Amino acid sequence: MTVVPHANNHRVVFITGASSGIGYAAALAFAKSGANVIVTARRIDRLATLETAVQRLPSPHGAIFAVAADVRDAADIQRAMTKGVEHFGHIDVLVANAGVGQRGAVVDSDWDDLETLLRTNIDGVLHSVRAAVPVMRKQGGGHIIIVSSVVANMTAPYTACYSASKAFVSSLANSLRLELEGDQITVTDMRVGRTATEFNEKRLGASGYAARAPKLPVMPAEKVGEAMVKAVNKRQKTVVLRFFDRLIIWANSLLPGIIGRRALKQYRV
Ligand SMILES: NC(=O)c1ccc[n+]([C@@H]2O[C@H](COP(=O)([O-])OP(=O)(O)OC[C@H]3O[C@@H](n4cnc5c(N)ncnc54)[C@H](OP(=O)(O)O)[C@@H]3O)[C@@H](O)[C@H]2O)c1
Repeated sequence: MTVVPHANNHRVVFITGASSGIGYAAALAFAKSGANVIVTARRIDRLATLETAVQRLPSPHGAIFAVAADVRDAADIQRAMTKGVEHFGHIDVLVANAGVGQRGAVVDSDWDDLETLLRTNIDGVLHSVRAAVPVMRKQGGGHIIIVSSVVANMTAPYTACYSASKAFVSSLANSLRLELEGDQITVTDMRVGRTATEFNEKRLGASGYAARAPKLPVMPAEKVGEAMVKAVNKRQKTVVLRFFDRLIIWANSLLPGIIGRRALKQYRV
């Protein structure tokens, strides 16, 4: 089958971590735009709710195919990718979104928590990219969105491993972009700021918002989902959604000591 990547009507989008929050909102936004979506996560009941929500969108909208998968397991993600390709014929866009947060000192945190964080946020992105690229290469192109954070590279005591995991994926996105440009595959480094999702409640180590957390502006997950559709349409390389998020990134690169001291106060457990 000959496929024109990025053709709006026939676009197929594979999204990891679609059972809640940003991934869920991304699936709805892409389906609204007319794309067919393959959604993955571990909680299949939540994916069933998403299937119903997509089916209830005003017509016309894209179709949805849900498959349970754990991003920490390369074979599981490969299996989900194969099933998705069997179902819709191809994949144009990967949204590598599944991720978890963690709070706690580098040395004193529970190793199981740190391992879950690293296996999900780092291995999960690598497994997803390595499963998607061969499919995209065969069809002559595609687009990968890697969901990072404004805290990538941030001096972030007591949430250091999370911040470092996002630095890893942002760095990966920027190198991968050049490795894949000959394959007509665009890579977006999506540096997301604070978003209203289940993320903080599920954070490993110390869930909920950090004590002494300043009242920072929170955006709805829908805004991030819509920005992903735009990122694909415009082939954007880096996305930072709000002026406030830009400020955080600038402040950290210019005044890492001050930002670090602030994080120390906020996140110390
Ligand atoms: N919310 C924020 O303020 C914020 C800011 C910057 C960046 N981000 C990033 O945005 C992404 C999405 O987070 P969110 O805010 O939407 O949080 P969320 O509502 O907790 O969603 C996380 C998603 O990741 C999935 N997931 C976690 N571990 C997984 C695994 N091992 N295998 C497969 N799926 C897994 C979860 O699904 P299951 O549990 O069903 O598997 C869920 O669908 C993350 O990468 C996060 O780091 C969030």
